[in-house]
Amino acid sequence: MSSHTVKIAPSLLSADFANLAADVATCERGGADVLHVDVMDGHFVPNITIGPLVVEALRPRTSLPLDCHLMISEPDRYIELFAAAGASWISVHAEVAHHLHRSISAIRAAGCKPGIVLNPMTSLDHACEAAGDAEFILLMSVNPGFGGQAFIPGFYKRCERLRSWLDANGHSNVEIEVDGGVNLDNVRSIVDAGANIIVSGSSLFRGNLAANIVEMRRRATA
Ligand code: DX5
Ligand code: ZN
Repeated sequence: MSSHTVKIAPSLLSADFANLAADVATCERGGADVLHVDVMDGHFVPNITIGPLVVEALRPRTSLPLDCHLMISEPDRYIELFAAAGASWISVHAEVAHHLHRSISAIRAAGCKPGIVLNPMTSLDHACEAAGDAEFILLMSVNPGFGGQAFIPGFYKRCERLRSWLDANGHSNVEIEVDGGVNLDNVRSIVDAGANIIVSGSSLFRGNLAANIVEMRRRATA
């Protein structure tokens, strides 16, 4: 369990892209803490989604932080662009960011909160090395690329190990984010394992979005 406050971060990947502003307003009404923005390039992951133009269009429509998860092969080329478009948090994948320290520094220099992302089988060593610089570690609980996939249970042990390591090594300030397959039934165990930033797409957007956000927070913190 983390000592950090639980933050609910609806993933806009599951929103109605023709009515994004309306869905964002509903996320706010439900009490979302952060909006998760999935940026995919059709190269690092087999899907193409949102670019800086959409971030720029969203920025004036909400006061919530925009958490830009860069699933792109060359993140360093786009950090400044996303920051200028209004990103609040930016995370880059350890599998493609060859100079993680440089990427993290660039994110911070651009005025955003830096995070790194690990795919489900990427060694936690990257997170340990980055812990002095990154402010959050996003542990993927699916293979990135699509919403609506099943949660990979190996997440639990990884998250527990990382949370304990961070706390035992002077990095308890670093938050753990989870992304992929999170729903009302598993959110409690995920929080118990030590994650506190909870990304959820298909599960929140199915049915009543605002009510689902309220219910997810209740279950995560009960
Ligand atoms: C997957 C994305 C996720 C996705 C999660 O590659 O990074 O943010 O939107 O969607 P669900 O919650 O449906 O698994
Ligand atoms: Zn994501």
